[in-house]
Amino acid sequence: MMHAKILAAVLFLAPSALAADRTWQQCGGIGYKGVMTCDRGDICQYWNDYYSQCIPAPTTTTRRTTTTTKKSTTTTKTTTKVSVTTSSTTEVPVTTTSTTEVPVTTSTTTTEVPVTSTSSTTTSTTPTSTPALEDLELYHGNALSSGWENWSWSSTFDFTYAGPPTPPAGSGGSVIQVTTGGYGGVSFRNPKGYAGYKTLVFQVAGASAWGLVADSTTEPFTSGAVSLVDSCPTPPTADAFTTCYFDIAKLGDHAWDRVTFQSWSDKDQTTYLANLFFTTKTALELTDTKSFGSGAAFGSNTLLLIGTGDITDVTVTKGGEPVAIASSEIVENPSRRVYAKLASSWAPGVYTVTHSAGVITITIPAAVTGDLSSANGTRKISKWIYGTNFPASSGFLNTYGIPLGRWGGNAMTPYNPITKYINAANDWYFENRPADNGGFESWAKMVAAGHAKAVYSIPMLDWVAKPKDCWSYSVAKYGPQDKVDPYNADAGNGLQNGTRIVNDPNDCYVPWGPSNVTAYLSSLDAATASTIEFFTIGNELDIADGTHPDIQQEKMSYDNELARVKAYGQAIRAAIPTAKILGPTSCCFWFWWHSSVGETDQAAHGGLSKLRYLLRELRAYDEEVGKKTIDYLDVHFNPQEGRPGDGSAADNASRLRSSRAWWDPTYKDESYMGQDGVYAGEENPGSVYFIRRMKKLISEEYPGLGLAVTEWYNNNDLVGGLQIADGLGIFAREGLDVATKWANTDPGSAGAAAYWLYSGGYNSAKPFPDQYLNVPIFYDPDTAAVFFAKGESNTAGVFINKNPTEYQHYKVVGWKAGTYTIRHFGTPGVRSDQGALFEATITLDASSTVVVPPYSAVFLSQ
Ligand SMILES: *[C@@H]1O[C@H](CO)[C@@H](O)[C@H](O)[C@H]1NC(C)=O
Ligand SMILES: *[C@@H]1O[C@H](CO)[C@@H](O)[C@H](O)[C@H]1NC(C)=O
Ligand SMILES: *[C@@H]1O[C@H](CO)[C@@H](O)[C@H](O)[C@H]1NC(C)=O
Ligand SMILES: *[C@@H]1O[C@H](CO)[C@@H](O)[C@H](O)[C@H]1NC(C)=O
Ligand SMILES: *[C@@H]1O[C@H](CO)[C@@H](O)[C@H](O)[C@H]1NC(C)=O
Repeated sequence: MMHAKILAAVLFLAPSALAADRTWQQCGGIGYKGVMTCDRGDICQYWNDYYSQCIPAPTTTTRRTTTTTKKSTTTTKTTTKVSVTTSSTTEVPVTTTSTTEVPVTTSTTTTEVPVTSTSSTTTSTTPTSTPALEDLELYHGNALSSGWENWSWSSTFDFTYAGPPTPPAGSGGSVIQVTTGGYGGVSFRNPKGYAGYKTLVFQVAGASAWGLVADSTTEPFTSGAVSLVDSCPTPPTADAFTTCYFDIAKLGDHAWDRVTFQSWSDKDQTTYLANLFFTTKTALELTDTKSFGSGAAFGSNTLLLIGTGDITDVTVTKGGEPVAIASSEIVENPSRRVYAKLASSWAPGVYTVTHSAGVITITIPAAVTGDLSSANGTRKISKWIYGTNFPASSGFLNTYGIPLGRWGGNAMTPYNPITKYINAANDWYFENRPADNGGFESWAKMVAAGHAKAVYSIPMLDWVAKPKDCWSYSVAKYGPQDKVDPYNADAGNGLQNGTRIVNDPNDCYVPWGPSNVTAYLSSLDAATASTIEFFTIGNELDIADGTHPDIQQEKMSYDNELARVKAYGQAIRAAIPTAKILGPTSCCFWFWWHSSVGETDQAAHGGLSKLRYLLRELRAYDEEVGKKTIDYLDVHFNPQEGRPGDGSAADNASRLRSSRAWWDPTYKDESYMGQDGVYAGEENPGSVYFIRRMKKLISEEYPGLGLAVTEWYNNNDLVGGLQIADGLGIFAREGLDVATKWANTDPGSAGAAAYWLYSGGYNSAKPFPDQYLNVPIFYDPDTAAVFFAKGESNTAGVFINKNPTEYQHYKVVGWKAGTYTIRHFGTPGVRSDQGALFEATITLDASSTVVVPPYSAVFLSQ
């Protein structure tokens, strides 16, 4: 018998503190899926693709901003006529006084489709779309039901819209038509609440890039956003209503009183809603069609079926011959699935799985063999490779088992740790504001509550923000400028016809230096100090003259950077002799090798590339002073800029190939990093092979240093999740020491699931063990990846299938028949399953083969 482990739902439960006062908090942006609702009276203001913010609705004028952390691109022209993208942090503007008119546009529908085409289904759902007496109506027949308040924002409504599409039965002939502006929300509150109701039933047509949020304004507590399509048996379309079921019961017992449909798009979306009501029936009771929507083969003899069907209705055949199902186990969370065990192992060939509502065809290829006993060595895996920047909450850290969170980014570079102010720098008109999260110390408490440790980026320019609302390039003081903050006409961008104004840093900053670092760190309380695992010497020092020209007016040269790394590294060391210090925290490919001064700087330093020069000098210096300035070389890297492109098959394949840039010297980079001329004389130009290249550089210039990547980025969609799973396995295999993925690893996404795949969540009994097992096994790194590790009592493998349509099959010699923990994401993830945390116990039979479905990542552990 299998024993299924019940997991928490995919839902991300934000800490209640977040719900208390949402004004100034982030409510949207590419990749953001934290809390997206705003308080009543606020609107969710779009600032840029990466950031939308709750601000008081128009007519209020206030001056404050909140943080964000997401890449924007700055193009740096160099004398070699190569243009390079450097990373920086996109920041946010302030307030508003304007009213946004939102035009009504034709709706566009994003329909997510299963990534495998082998399943056909004849299911038709018989939706429950009319309320019973005991149900709580929200909207029906032209009006909000009594007791409900409208808490919507950034949206335009027609509450008596009569179609098209044709209003569904029971609607009384009209529906709600709503056009949400960027991250707008359709939100309703009932002071009596809807605690005790298990499901919100609603009918929807039009845009589906929406999240659903249940809130309690009294507790206060918010569920965080749940994808709308996950609530719908079939994805909504533009031209017909679909009945959907928001599973409130799954969210736990709270004093729910508010529900929100939240646009996840920065674009206008038009959507239609009808027949909204809460019922005491569960979503499963309402939707149970007793059928399976999708399924896949796993492991040696496991057949996974997703849906509410009955396994006794399922038949499996191979070449016309029946294959018996020996046993099965149902797992209910986070959605119902059946792990059935075939009486015989999967073998190459075509299987036909027939269930009451359709047929699933599974084609198993020949197996590739790997023998665990022939592993030619082990390597200790650093647990610090599984970190992220700015984790969303302690709950996020616990759920995904992330052990390390980094505090750093452009706005944090001039962070004043005494008064807890920051400056938005070039990301937003050089404006000061209070630090997010109440400053580092309170943020560190959140990290500690998530059983994680912190990476603290220590300010290393000569100034930190003054504790006052202030901007570096006042128009009143410095005259008219090329651009000003649209919400603050006095805050300029510091450019006059393209020429940088020489400002007085005293306007908005106070002096800062190495002695301040030593004094501040010496004064840290014990709890904060014990949460810090690593320090970085600031953030992307090498582009400070671009990101912080108001306090770094000179171009950042080899000499300036080296002097700062020495001074600040030693200042940290003076306060905390055992500190683990990371530097120079170089921003990005071009600046690994060059300084912003240009080619002449390299020529003036023996023709050495910048990182090589810095390491060589640091080694000599450290020998002289007898203390290490840094313990780890810290370099930021985004394979192919971490981009999601156009979503085409070719784009997906190229993203999945780009993981080779972490390690493979034979992989010619497909981005601008593939050009030979940009490597400043370093060997094998055109290929990045990041970890191996940097380790070789360390061994040549400063043996003994570790290697850290405190920013790296992949998107969080399914392809991104597979890339991240691939990346983490490569970090383990290649012996990277520290890695924190760039911010916004959205809870509930495939990107976050990749972390969970390895960890199993905080304190899981079956994490990926810490001894890497180098098992010779052949696979094509463009389409697959396989990683093994062993611990004291178990051996685990991670198998990543980057092929969108075909199964992969391995024979793992040395794995014994018996029960195994399986975790997986991806196919057969029809919509909801792509970031779902699916864990169960399955049986591997004596042949110990492992079948991996298309576009999925599978973890198996004894
Ligand atoms: C609901 O509130 C929004 C935002 O204040 C407003 O634009 C909309 O007209 C309201 N709708 C109704 C039907 O009151
Ligand atoms: C830019 O130059 C033009 C022409 O000399 C001048 O009129 C304008 O004021 C300048 N703009 C700024 C912001 O200094
Ligand atoms: C840094 O130290 C100097 C000298 O003690 C002091 O004047 C200055 O205010 C300190 N800076 C901050 C931000 O505390
Ligand atoms: C590319 O991958 C994404 C998931 O990351 C998927 O939604 C999309 O359908 C894929 N494109 C193709 C053409 O398969
Ligand atoms: C060890 O295994 C790895 C991975 O298969 C292989 O690349 C390498 O050549 C092997 N080394 C030796 C010494 O066998």
